[in-house]
Amino acid sequence: MGKNLSGKVAIVTGAASGFGRGIATAFAKEGVRVIVADLREAPLQGGFEEHAELTTVAEIREAGGDAHFVKCDVTSHDDVKSLISQTVDHYGKLDIMVNNAGIYRGGKLAHEFGDDDLEACWQVNVKGTWYGCQEAVKRFLQQGGGGNIINLVSTAGLQGHPKQSVYNISKGAQANLTRCFAIEYGHEGIRVNGICPTYAKTALTRELFDDKNFDEFFIESIPLKRWGEVSDVTNLAVFLASEESSYMHGVLVRLDGGETLCRYSV
Ligand SMILES: NC(=O)c1ccc[n+]([C@@H]2O[C@H](COP(=O)([O-])OP(=O)(O)OC[C@H]3O[C@@H](n4cnc5c(N)ncnc54)[C@H](O)[C@@H]3O)[C@@H](O)[C@H]2O)c1
Repeated sequence: MGKNLSGKVAIVTGAASGFGRGIATAFAKEGVRVIVADLREAPLQGGFEEHAELTTVAEIREAGGDAHFVKCDVTSHDDVKSLISQTVDHYGKLDIMVNNAGIYRGGKLAHEFGDDDLEACWQVNVKGTWYGCQEAVKRFLQQGGGGNIINLVSTAGLQGHPKQSVYNISKGAQANLTRCFAIEYGHEGIRVNGICPTYAKTALTRELFDDKNFDEFFIESIPLKRWGEVSDVTNLAVFLASEESSYMHGVLVRLDGGETLCRYSV
């Protein structure tokens, strides 16, 4: 079966950098018209982008794809409402919503985190995804049903990890939010799934990637013996967006090189 994504319209939040950028460009290669939504157009410093000098939209257009940037802070309900209406104004409809924008806070025990750390993770990772799901569903229902939502969760949403409690709490809520939307809107033909990567090479993990002690500890724990790549996530996102995954619904897919199978590997 082909991917059959040509002509679809997708929003990808946090698409200036990392996973979001990878998903946006991979979708565009499949003929999807993509709204790149982010606080900024240029990629974050410290990432692993191949063409960091280009914005995501420029990279997509250079490759012959169709993309448009919309500035959006996913923590603002008004911004997310406007994101949906600007998408419809620009491309006429919405088929796929990828709630990818997220932030990380780590390196402290629970009693050491400040309110601001908890608040920041909650605002972006939970409320941002909640607004994205809510407003996309409203639009999908208005269009007569059908639609596809993909949330970028984490293995941190499936289990606890040390020294990142505020992030884990937010990812746990995001995982359950994904299940709740799947339960309530499946009968409308709206599929909702989550991707749960372990550490992958993006600006978000650059500090950990550069820390030799962490790198050794991490690789030891992974049966496949490598960091995740953005392409691991984008391949799965394309599959989840396509009809090839048409019976997958409410699934939180572990994408972790086997990490969560064991405490440490051989
Ligand atoms: N990189 C990893 O190892 C990893 C692992 C598991 C899950 N994740 C999740 O994947 C998602 C993407 O992570 P990444 O590694 O690509 O991150 P990243 O830091 O490389 O990129 C995140 C992008 O989101 C944007 N963003 C941040 N706050 C925003 C806001 N309020 N509104 C709009 N855009 C905003 C940033 O500007 C940036 O372009 C996040 O939800 C993250 O929690 C990442």
